[in-house]
Amino acid sequence: MNLTGDLPDLPVPDGALVKEVNRDELTALRQGKTDLPSEFYRDELGVNDRCFVCTICDELAFICWIRTEGSDALLKLGEREAEATYAYCLPRFRGKGLHAVTLNLAAKHLKSEGLRALWGKVHDRNVPAMKNVLRAGFQMVGEKKRLGFFVWGNQFCTSAGESSLIDVGGAPRGK
Ligand SMILES: CC(C)(COP(=O)(O)OP(=O)(O)OC[C@H]1O[C@@H](n2cnc3c(N)ncnc32)[C@H](O)[C@@H]1OP(=O)(O)O)[C@@H](O)C(=O)NCCC(=O)NCCS
Repeated sequence: MNLTGDLPDLPVPDGALVKEVNRDELTALRQGKTDLPSEFYRDELGVNDRCFVCTICDELAFICWIRTEGSDALLKLGEREAEATYAYCLPRFRGKGLHAVTLNLAAKHLKSEGLRALWGKVHDRNVPAMKNVLRAGFQMVGEKKRLGFFVWGNQFCTSAGESSLIDVGGAPRGK
């Protein structure tokens, strides 16, 4: 997502509030919940990504993580670039497009801080995720085929098929 241009304005569902949270605030939101998936505990895995949540009437509904430095097998972040890494909407809050709304508002927040690009990767069979990232303001700039668990040159993979690289702000880069 090119953060130097205009980003779309999306309607925010009733009762929804998007905010960046620190570790203490996230811990408080998780308090008393025993069935949250692992996407809600990235901080406890030693991951230092920034965390954005969407609450509905003060209840945790959606989470996404954004890293602002470093690299992985597919993306090497440049200066003032970030990557939306993990995202998860709790099943009972799905169908409201919280993924798109949260990414869109998080992107605007990053833009206000002077970041210039937000990258992301979405599996092409993940229809809701693909729809949401495009609505949030991402554009497709490249695709990576996955052929197995092993990296061979610039090709990646699992038996899962293809994955898509979403973004604008530059050409997709492999390592
Ligand atoms: C991806 C995810 C966050 C989207 O949740 P959400 O914001 O509530 O999205 P929605 O349920 O509103 O779905 C968005 C669109 O996809 C459609 N959709 C949802 N599930 C679908 C499916 N299985 N097949 C086809 N379309 C589907 C919806 O109908 C909706 O379309 P519309 O708005 O044009 O009517 C959620 O599905 C999730 O947490 N999945 C598991 C984790 C994941 O995949 N994370 C993303 C990794 S990039």
